[in-house]
Amino acid sequence: MPHLLTLDGMPRERILALLDRAQLFAEGHDLRGSLAGTAVCTLFFEPSTRTRMSFHLAAQRLGADVLNFDASTSSTRKGETALDTLRNLEAMGVRGFVVRHSEDGAVAALARRVRPGTALINAGDGRSAHPTQGLLDMLTLRQAKGDAFERLTVLIVGDVRHSRVARSDLHALRTLGAGEIRVCGPQALLPDDGTLAGCAVSHDLDAALDGVDVVMMLRLQRERMEEGLVSSLEDYHRTYGLTAQRLRRAKPDAVVMHPGPINRGVEITDEVADGPQSLILRQVHNGVAVRMAVLESLLG
Ligand code: CP
Repeated sequence: MPHLLTLDGMPRERILALLDRAQLFAEGHDLRGSLAGTAVCTLFFEPSTRTRMSFHLAAQRLGADVLNFDASTSSTRKGETALDTLRNLEAMGVRGFVVRHSEDGAVAALARRVRPGTALINAGDGRSAHPTQGLLDMLTLRQAKGDAFERLTVLIVGDVRHSRVARSDLHALRTLGAGEIRVCGPQALLPDDGTLAGCAVSHDLDAALDGVDVVMMLRLQRERMEEGLVSSLEDYHRTYGLTAQRLRRAKPDAVVMHPGPINRGVEITDEVADGPQSLILRQVHNGVAVRMAVLESLLG
């Protein structure tokens, strides 16, 4: 596989192999150096903290030379296209590109135009896919709950319509055989394009939380939202915010995840985000290991 564009259709064995390798990296095994002499560029046309920094660290830990492309100070400001930018970096010898773009399908479109031997990793395109987030979420879930995904009831809450994270999580959860997948959010923020096939859909968060093992909260993607989809943040929090009181409806050992960045006090309270059931910083920690596994598998 020359690129990583989506988890849709990725075989279970490949997902598990990446998670196994990432687990070794997460445990600190000394597996460095496999990308010595390889140049990797993080090519982000949208903001990022976690994905960009963790890819940078992951590539460095594997011994790669890492270039950080900053769109705001680049020649894209003079009108240079993403494809020309990528081709110029390819000409300098860059072999791996970690690309984030606001348009659905933009990374796949670039991948069709690169040289043989160049690898692209989708670091989030529009609402479509964020495959390394999906993988790091599965690694985090596996560490917390074990391999038996079929025993888990997983609830995804919030703005699924605009979320590439939710789509990649759904692809991975289905492939790994999650027992039950519930989705909860306001009608206006749930997709009607088949994304939720097979999920139990609800608009009542209290009912949806009953007996779940895992709660995956999503950020309100206001940058991708039409005006008026959410009446007010206070209303949203009242109806769909995860509070400590609400979380008591889940199983006592339920875990809470969120891909970040968090809108504190909107989709989740401080008490839950920073509480004992939260895996949010564990997700971030695992992001480095998963990205090491992905870079190694494509470029090593
Ligand atoms: N989870 C995630 O993609 O975070 P960033 O936007 O900060 O990379």
